[in-house]
Amino acid sequence: METALTRLTGVRHPLVQTGMGWVSGPRLVSATANAGALGILASATMTTDRLREAIREVKSRTEAPFGVNLRADAADAGDRVRVLVEEGVRVASFALAPSPGLIAELKEAGVVVVPTVGARRHAEKVAAWGADAVIVQGAEGGGHTGAVATTVLLPQVVDAVRIPVVAAGGFFDGRGLVAALAYGAAGVAMGTRFLLTSDSTVPDAVKARYLAATVTDVTLTTAVDGLPHRMLRTDLVAALEGSGRTRALLHAVRHASAFRKLSGLTWRQLIHDGLATKHAKNLTWPQLLLAANTPMLLKSAMVDGRTDAGVMAAGQVAGVIEDLPSCAELVDRIMKEAEEVRERFRSAR
Ligand SMILES: Cc1cc2nc3c(=O)[nH]c(=O)nc-3n(C[C@H](O)[C@H](O)[C@H](O)COP(=O)(O)O)c2cc1C
Repeated sequence: METALTRLTGVRHPLVQTGMGWVSGPRLVSATANAGALGILASATMTTDRLREAIREVKSRTEAPFGVNLRADAADAGDRVRVLVEEGVRVASFALAPSPGLIAELKEAGVVVVPTVGARRHAEKVAAWGADAVIVQGAEGGGHTGAVATTVLLPQVVDAVRIPVVAAGGFFDGRGLVAALAYGAAGVAMGTRFLLTSDSTVPDAVKARYLAATVTDVTLTTAVDGLPHRMLRTDLVAALEGSGRTRALLHAVRHASAFRKLSGLTWRQLIHDGLATKHAKNLTWPQLLLAANTPMLLKSAMVDGRTDAGVMAAGQVAGVIEDLPSCAELVDRIMKEAEEVRERFRSAR
């Protein structure tokens, strides 16, 4: 199925596997790429050296195009962009709006720039700065998310910008893909659905928690890091929601220190990134300290398999997903179903 997204990025199908911290590693990304969709490597939780290694690992497993997700406000964003350019990565994805300078540097090197946005005005801003496409994530999406549902946000953004728009938040099947195309999107991006594949390295016990979840087991909370964050409701989430501020802050400082060691950041860089986040998201100091918690809490679940001690970011779709196909099976199934839906429309005329 050819769309503006497939033409722009060179993939076969208008499907994106998004950058998820500790989840979207070389194995998932290369399996997605080999299935003909656009896999995006999550890099915020990697050192710059590890990022280069991970990119090379993906390249050793696939010839197909793929992308890398970056934190636009990271102190070393420039170094990371250079790694992408040197390694010939096709697509740069951003969690926050990249600066016009970064966009220009990437585009000059032939890298396609696709920021993720959660509001129409952010889409308009990055489009004006030269982004090639946007992923627009509605409220039902996993991880940090906005307040407006995909069904409202998507047509609003499609009408506001002239670049291709990729829909995210709540997609898991072929019907969703056709619905997004009907709204004017150029494809769909999915996080939770790709996390729940046999190619994802997330431990089995954690996948089992997602599969068992109903839609009402997926909650939106600010208790973990001060920002609206969608995840599975667990005892830990309930405890954080109920715990006093001082205890939460002490946890946050401990986790920030552990994350600094893992990410290879100096305290100076960590503080720089923290200040950038504080400024971008309008956080108070206590909220900022809580935000330092997130990478370590996510790692506890996604890498260490601790369903009790970790945070399991999840979209509402976790409540309707019931199996663990391979990426190839998933992509094939979605594209077949999308074709069937389109055929049904044609024969109903
Ligand atoms: C476990 C998990 C981790 C995530 N980590 C990140 C991240 O590190 N950076 C980011 O930009 N988005 C992150 N997200 C958001 C996803 O990239 C994606 O936008 C979202 O999952 C789409 O909604 P869906 O889950 O309904 O498909 C994460 C989502 C999940 C489920």
